[in-house]
Parts: sequence; C-alpha cells; structure tokens
Amino acid sequence: MKKNPAAVFRPIGRVEDGVIRVHRDWAPGLDGIEGFSHLIVIYWLDQSHEPELKLHPKGDRRIPALGFLATRTPHRANPIGMTVVRLLKRRGSRLWIEGLDAWPGTPVLDIKPYTRKDSIKKFRIPAWVKLLDQAETDPLRRYAS
Ligand SMILES: C[S@@+](CC[C@H](N)C(=O)[O-])C[C@H]1O[C@@H](n2cnc3c(N)ncnc32)[C@H](O)[C@@H]1O
Repeated sequence: MKKNPAAVFRPIGRVEDGVIRVHRDWAPGLDGIEGFSHLIVIYWLDQSHEPELKLHPKGDRRIPALGFLATRTPHRANPIGMTVVRLLKRRGSRLWIEGLDAWPGTPVLDIKPYTRKDSIKKFRIPAWVKLLDQAETDPLRRYAS
C-alpha cells in the first residue's frame, strides 16, 4: 500500500457555520461516527500569519512574553488547529457540531473520534492560563475545566 512520508495535506472538508462539510469523495469515511458524542477536529488555520517566536498570550501584557509553542496562538510554524467538539448529528457529508473555534471556510484536515484515551484527569497548567480562563464564557473551551 502507498505510504505517506511527506507532510502533504489533503483537506477533507471545510468549516461552515456550526457544520463541517466533508467533500463528497470522503463522506463514506464518516460511517460509524454517529456513535461518538465528541470528535477531535484538526484543521489548517489558513488566515494566520508567520509566528512571532515570543508573544503575550491573547495580547495580554499582564502575562510575560512566552514562546509560541507554549501557547495556543493560531500563528504557528505549521498553523494546525485542534479542537474537541460535540457531535450533534450527521446528515450524509455534513456534521453538525458545537464548540469549534475555527472560522467558516477553514480547511479541515482530519476528524478523529474522541475516546477515553484522549482524556487526562490530572494535569498541570500555569497561572496565566487560569487568568485567561476567567474571561472564557464557553465551558468547553476552558483549559482548567
Ligand atoms: C487560538 S486558535 C486555537 C485553535 C485550536 N483550538 C487549537 O488550540 O489548536 C483559535 C482562534 O484562531 C482564530 N481562527 C479561527 N479560524 C482561523 C483560521 N482559519 N485562520 C486563522 N485564525 C483562525 C480565531 O480567533 C479562534 O478563536
């Protein structure tokens, strides 16, 4: 079988408003996904710019400048975004989802079912993340929750 040694991405679909529309050719690859309540969506942050090596997370100057790899900035060497979303329903090539922080038009690279293996109960985060979380209204998007 053909291997995939080079990092060449083939978007499998696009983000629409509250929906991921998978290209028709790949849609049969969604069969069985309805059994999962949550999915991991991996996408290409196509509107991002070259990263600054160090930045204040969310532009908040109360937080010292940190390396971009220590943050969730969309501006990255390889602007890959990753979000755990709730799957509401599937109709053919379309997935209705909740919690995706990618703009309409964003190319979707991959979708994976969320399983127990992806869940870590005990983890450490620095104080600046808790500070930013206080402004986050979506509980799914809070790092500390
Ligand atoms: C901070 S990034 C993080 C994305 C993902 N949750 C992660 O951690 O990989 C999410 C933000 O990037 C911005 N964004 C969304 N879609 C984008 C796109 N296609 N290109 C560039 N920026 C985008 C929005 O401001 C959104 O709130």
